[in-house]
Amino acid sequence: MTGSQVPLLSVLKGETCSPPPMWLMRQAGRYLPEYREVRKTVPSFLDLCLTPKLAAEVTLQPLRRFPFDASIVFSDILIVPFALGQPVAFVEGEGPKLDPVGDGAALARLDPAVAATKLSPVYETVERVVAELPDKVPLIGFCGAPWTVATYMVEGAGSKDQAAARALAYRDPSLFQAMIDMIVETSTIYLLGQVAAGSRALQIFDSWSGSLPEDAFARWCIAPTKEIVARVKQQVPEIPIIGFPRGAGPSAVRYARETGVDGVGCDTSLPLAWVREELQSLVPVQGNLDPVLLAAGGPELDVRVAQILEELSQGQFIFNLGHGILPYTPIEHVERLVRLVKGVSAG
Ligand code: CP3
Repeated sequence: MTGSQVPLLSVLKGETCSPPPMWLMRQAGRYLPEYREVRKTVPSFLDLCLTPKLAAEVTLQPLRRFPFDASIVFSDILIVPFALGQPVAFVEGEGPKLDPVGDGAALARLDPAVAATKLSPVYETVERVVAELPDKVPLIGFCGAPWTVATYMVEGAGSKDQAAARALAYRDPSLFQAMIDMIVETSTIYLLGQVAAGSRALQIFDSWSGSLPEDAFARWCIAPTKEIVARVKQQVPEIPIIGFPRGAGPSAVRYARETGVDGVGCDTSLPLAWVREELQSLVPVQGNLDPVLLAAGGPELDVRVAQILEELSQGQFIFNLGHGILPYTPIEHVERLVRLVKGVSAG
């Protein structure tokens, strides 16, 4: 293997590693039977996130099966609104439900001061995981990007087009800015807490950045992400940060130039040659296998993995999916993927 001791960190510092480091977004989760077993022992998904012993266990589960080059702490992006005091529930089969924040009075009920303590179970999870991991497998800490987190806070649920959040941002930009500022503040504290506990890289998930036109993208995706990156790096300059502006399309270039992130996650839709020429020339890139193709398997999977490696593995590259792994993904397909990326000898 070329590249130094910790492949993921080497790539984010600008080295090229062959084979590229790999991990999968949502690599801990329902496609693993051992996850489903642990999940059954707690009443809710949020209880799992807030019980460090169990959260650490499920974080480590995929690493016991697959030789991934990174671990990602088991938590959720909606832990931040929860910590701010907004009621959050994960309803089986329906996804997250929150009491929507639609006006200044609702926003005023949220409190960044109490958030810090409510997030502390996640720091304990990080400590427990790091104690178990070999040095060459760093733990990634994460948060949701302010825009994506705000969409859930305003909509009260996941949505197809984030129309309620977009409407609020257009109708009352100062209220929306106050909400974004509160999320920036809390997310910065949250990421720094995860780093203090032992996370060696960070990822900021902007799952819904694709729903904004370019000026709103600059204002609500780039600017708050840039602020979090600057504030985190002011305290810990050496921590690498991956940004994942899902759906950003060509705006991912501006995102890479302006936010200060050390790597950019690419979603499934971005063409490989474009990623190589326009993005990888600026920053290390991560991605972008279609999670549906991983679940489908078969010869098309082999073909696509080879294409991704051919286009991107000459430069700074982290192999990943273009979005989270799907719960119905057969484990054998993940095993096959690992063999394809790491070479047959890796087992
Ligand atoms: O990657 C990992 O292994 C770490 C864990 C992780 C989870 N969520 C666990 C989870 C991470 C990094 C996330 C991020 C997350 N959460 C995002 C950003 C990435 C993306 O997918 O776009 C978003 C938008 C959320 C919000 C969220 N959490 C939704 C919409 C849902 C319900 C949909 C679903 O898949 O059920 C969740 C629940 C959730 N988060 C689960 C897991 C394992 C499933 C809940 C369960 O096991 O009961």
